[in-house]
Amino acid sequence: MPAQAGIHQYHSLHGFRLGGRNDGFHAHRLRASVVTTPTIDALRRQLAEHNHRYYIENAPIISDAEYDALLRQLQRMEEESGEPIPADSPTQTVGAPPSTSFAARAHQVPMLSLANAFSDGEMADFHRRVRDALGEAAPITFVVEPKIDGLAINLRYEEGHLVSAATRGDGATGEDVTANVRTIRDIPWRIDTPAPPLLEVRGEVLMDHATFNQLNAERAEAGEPPFANPRNAAAGSLRQIDPRVTAKRGLRFFAYAVGAGADDLPAVTSQQQLLAWLKGCGFPVQPWQQCDTIEAIQGLVAEWEQTKRATMPYDIDGLVFKVDALAQQRLLGAISRSPRWAIARKFAAEEVTTTVQWIHWQVGRTGVLTPVADLTPVAVAGVMVSHATLHNIDELRRKDVRPGDTVVVRRAGDVIPEVVRSLGNSGQRAPQPVAPSHCPVCGAHTVHEAGEVAIRCGNASCSAQLHQHLCHFVSRNAMDIDGLGSRLLAKLVERRIVTSIADLYRLPWQELARWEGIGDTRIRNLKQALEASKTRPLDRFLFALGIHLVGATTARALTARFPSLEALQSANRGMLERVDGVGPLVAQAVVEFFAEAANRELIATLRALGVNPQPAAEQSGHHLPLKGQRIVITGSFDHWKRSALEQKLRSLGAATSSSVSKKTDLVIAGAKAGSKLANAERLGVKVMTAEELAPWLESLEA
Ligand code: IVH
Repeated sequence: MPAQAGIHQYHSLHGFRLGGRNDGFHAHRLRASVVTTPTIDALRRQLAEHNHRYYIENAPIISDAEYDALLRQLQRMEEESGEPIPADSPTQTVGAPPSTSFAARAHQVPMLSLANAFSDGEMADFHRRVRDALGEAAPITFVVEPKIDGLAINLRYEEGHLVSAATRGDGATGEDVTANVRTIRDIPWRIDTPAPPLLEVRGEVLMDHATFNQLNAERAEAGEPPFANPRNAAAGSLRQIDPRVTAKRGLRFFAYAVGAGADDLPAVTSQQQLLAWLKGCGFPVQPWQQCDTIEAIQGLVAEWEQTKRATMPYDIDGLVFKVDALAQQRLLGAISRSPRWAIARKFAAEEVTTTVQWIHWQVGRTGVLTPVADLTPVAVAGVMVSHATLHNIDELRRKDVRPGDTVVVRRAGDVIPEVVRSLGNSGQRAPQPVAPSHCPVCGAHTVHEAGEVAIRCGNASCSAQLHQHLCHFVSRNAMDIDGLGSRLLAKLVERRIVTSIADLYRLPWQELARWEGIGDTRIRNLKQALEASKTRPLDRFLFALGIHLVGATTARALTARFPSLEALQSANRGMLERVDGVGPLVAQAVVEFFAEAANRELIATLRALGVNPQPAAEQSGHHLPLKGQRIVITGSFDHWKRSALEQKLRSLGAATSSSVSKKTDLVIAGAKAGSKLANAERLGVKVMTAEELAPWLESLEA
């Protein structure tokens, strides 16, 4: 039996109505499948198979010329048969000769858009409006879905077959992009479960981050301008004249709504059931959550905006909240072009575009010169940004950022803003910046060692280096000297009052007291802060010294094994390398640091000035039941601040880390644990719950 007749029968058996516009279509289809010669069908199937191999599997088994010959043969036979041509015949779809423009296509049911809320207050207003309209007593459940930053598409299925696809357009009519949509592997050409005879499935076409980055890298290789963001890349890829180009772009799709046919879905009375039904039909849907109080709504917004958003493999620009019950949706209805039962809670933009005014080189504490873009100020994720790092000369060249360029800037979490990519400039571009031959601060020659990306100022007493070094020394995770800010330190360096770290502990207080803005209270506080810093734990002191490659974690690992400065200073490379987490490079950096007479002298001077770092836990005879254990903490805890819990675990000998790997021994998961917990489960790492924490800690300390 020809396949299409089979499908028809299947739908009829399940009692779906055939009515209105569909009758004509259906009759044609039926007749076509009954009267056409098997050769046409066979040819269609054969071509469909080749399409699949070409577009979906990327593994064609015939040449383009052979494909074209088959297609022309089918075209001829279809013309000669005089029969109506099914919409999904290969002659009508992907293999068809590229069209030069997109035809207009009306949606059966208009595509609405969503009202936006930008604040907790606006969300509360939405919640109140829904409550008031449905009455205080009615229980209301909301469904929450990530708001994908892609483009909306309407897929029209007739008798379970994809017959057309159109962009949203003005909501009533969009552009017909059927041939291109057929190349998206997430979108089924046929629905095999019982479905209404006319069904409009709606959702978002998008490009994920990995695909986007790869596409832009390929474009850069080919000398083509990059896409500004994944949304533009998705739109550009969908609106290709030649579907073969679309097919190569790796677009994805998620379904979230139904237009025509919504009233005829089997046993669907809520948005959650609708999503589940779409999923059952073979459409990808995003994971959804449900909530019912305004507090829960606000909580979800905060959680998604602050943490979950950054872990998504594609761009989302907010959350969509929808009243779950379809009956309640009907009661609420729509105003102008958006439903009253849904709202888009938008996040602050995380990536924005602005222009580069200049690129300057900043000298870091180890003398490394970092290129920094001075930007036309712009708000990124709610914070004004006027500088963004370009990391190093290699990155600068790779991204090809030049003064005058329009650039995409990103700020994720509390990370320093960075230039993600340059979009070039419509006019004549400035020349590419070159690596500076002299330090912009002290004028000394720079060194660019072979095989290293970093360019350094060759002058060890460069004032910029000293300033940065001091800023690091006093910073919170190092010696934590409150009140010694960057500006005051810059002034002290500039006036040559401070020429080394040791000078911080012999400041000429009487002179400082004469400076503007430095009163008695400030001096008293500064003296206190300096005094308190003298007895910081050894690992912090070690970190504060700014030894190349020795960050806070490495410093802790080192002092756990070498609990005094003397022990550390006399350790050789082999001994250092035996410390967990210390490799040959770190070991060498530590040995080199202590081999340098100037550094040993500095430590001696600091000691003489009363700096007396406290021995690490082990030497004080502390009990270390968690020695060698790698622990990751995730989520929140009622009785512990995360930082305090981390400190506690470290004091018991554990090494804490922020990411879960196969080497992790234990994950402690509090409330709202997210991807780290999932990773732990995936990797089979042991997980402890918040409830188990207190008795466990007690048992350890017993
Ligand atoms: S529902 C009547 N759900 O946001 C409701 N829209 O600003 C129809 N969008 O045009 C839309 N993710 O392109 C819905 N999970 C989601 C969505 C979503 C992204 C887009 C969609 C819509 C626009 C409205």
